[in-house]
Order: sequence, then C-alpha cells, then structure tokens
Amino acid sequence: MNLILMGLPGAGKGTQAEKINEAYHIPHISTGDMFRLAIKEGTELGQKAKEYMDQGALVPDDVTIGIVKERLGRDDCKNGFLLDGFPRTVAQAKSLQALLEEMDDSIDYVLHVDVPEEDLVERLAGRRICPTCGATYHVTHNPPQKEGICDNDGSKLMQREDDQAETVKNRLNVNLEQMKPLLDFYHDKGNLVKIDGDQEIDHVFKDIQSAIEY
Ligand code: AP5
Ligand code: MG
Ligand code: ZN
Repeated sequence: MNLILMGLPGAGKGTQAEKINEAYHIPHISTGDMFRLAIKEGTELGQKAKEYMDQGALVPDDVTIGIVKERLGRDDCKNGFLLDGFPRTVAQAKSLQALLEEMDDSIDYVLHVDVPEEDLVERLAGRRICPTCGATYHVTHNPPQKEGICDNDGSKLMQREDDQAETVKNRLNVNLEQMKPLLDFYHDKGNLVKIDGDQEIDHVFKDIQSAIEY
C-alpha cells in the first residue's frame, strides 16, 4: 500500500504516521525528518535545508525531489510506503507521479488530515519531541507518563527549533498557500480522502483505518 499523508503544520501527520507504521509495517518517509537528520549530521544537504527551515520556508523542489527519489528506490519501499509532508507543491506532486510511473507503481490513497487553522498554533507550541527515538508528544493532548521524559527511552524531551512563534506563523502561511492547488491536483486524480483531524488521536487513526481498509 502506497500512502501520502497531507496536512498543515501540526495537523498530526507524524503522530498518525507512527501508528500507520506500527499497524501496517510500511516505511514512514518524512522529508522534514530527513532534513532534520541531515542537519544533525552536518551534511551538505543539512546545511542547505537549514537555511530554509529556520525561516519556515520550503526547501527548493529540486533538493526535496532528489532525496525522495533516492529514498523510494530503496528495497524497503517495494511493499509500500508512507509519505509524510511530501509532496507539498504541485511541482513535487508531478515529479512523484512521473517517478512512480517509471517504477510502474502508483499512490493508493492521499489522506488529507484536516484541522481548523486556529488549533494548529497551540498544537505546535505544546509539542515536545524525543531527540533519541523521534517520538512526538504534546504537553496536554498527548503527555508522556513522566513530564518532560520520553516513555520509550527516558531521554529528555525537546522543542523543535521551528516551533517558535515567529517561525510557526511563516510555516502556516507558506503551507496554506501551497495546499489548495495540491488538494485540487489529487482531487482530480480521484484518490483524495479527507480525514477529520480535529478529534482524539485514536479516533483520527480509526478513521484512517476505515478509509484505507475499505
Ligand atoms: P515537517 O517536519 O514536515 O513539518 P510540518 O509540515 O510543519 O509538520 P509538523 O511536523 O510540524 O506537524 P505534523 O503534522 O507532523 O504534526 P505532529 O504529528 O507532530 O517539515 C519541516 C520543514 O522541512 C518545512 O517547514 C520545510 O522547511 C521542510 N520541508 C519538509 N518537507 C518539505 C517538502 N516536501 N518540500 C519543501 N520543504 C519541505 O503533531 C503536532 C502536535 O499536535 C504534537 O504535539 C502532537 O502530539 C499533537 N497532536 C497530534 N494529533 C493530535 C490530535 N488529534 N489532537 C490533539 N493534539 C494532537
Ligand atoms: Mg511531522
Ligand atoms: Zn524516545
């Protein structure tokens, strides 16, 4: 099964991706996570991505498409994959389509996790992440058992650098602008499914399961 998770910053893509990955064992491919890893490792890609991410801007299409192309070519994607946060522009969507055609493959569902804009700022401000295993928490909506500590490995939780109020504003604006044409693109293709993301995390996941097991 090949899936795309789409949604504005803070909609819950990463949170749902963890659950989909656990239930269906398909690799979770998040371009945001790939860029953050590259930044942590200090690679050339990381240096380039950081310039844009720090401002809440999109990394240029050629760079982003390049890393996804390489990733989808790996063996673990042969039985399906889950894209999180890619494509984010129509140009990326068209490149993905061309790439999949070359691979004689296609996307089964595009899951649009829809959350009212006014909820997103609060979700991002309260988000905490584990620097060791990448788990995502929220101080009130999805707290760890022990405040500030990861349930999985005891690491001290952190805030993401681009979750500062100023950067969040920019991220939301940039993504709002790109979202509409992207939704139109997949609506025309006929495999777009809207998921109500304004519910408890487990309810959102149930709706995703009903959509893809239909
Ligand atoms: P990326 O890492 O993808 O960030 P994003 O799109 O801004 O989305 P987030 O990861 O912030 O949100 P999410 O939807 O995953 O929400 P989460 O599950 O964490 O990209 C970062 C940057 O990289 C971009 O700004 C750009 O610069 C660059 N980039 C990445 N991809 C690119 C591309 N394709 N092209 C160009 N540039 C690209 O949840 C958020 C919070 O809410 C958490 O605290 C969570 O616990 C909580 N929460 C989740 N679900 C619920 C719920 N149902 N109810 C209540 N709280 C919830
Ligand atoms: Mg995410
Ligand atoms: Zn952890």
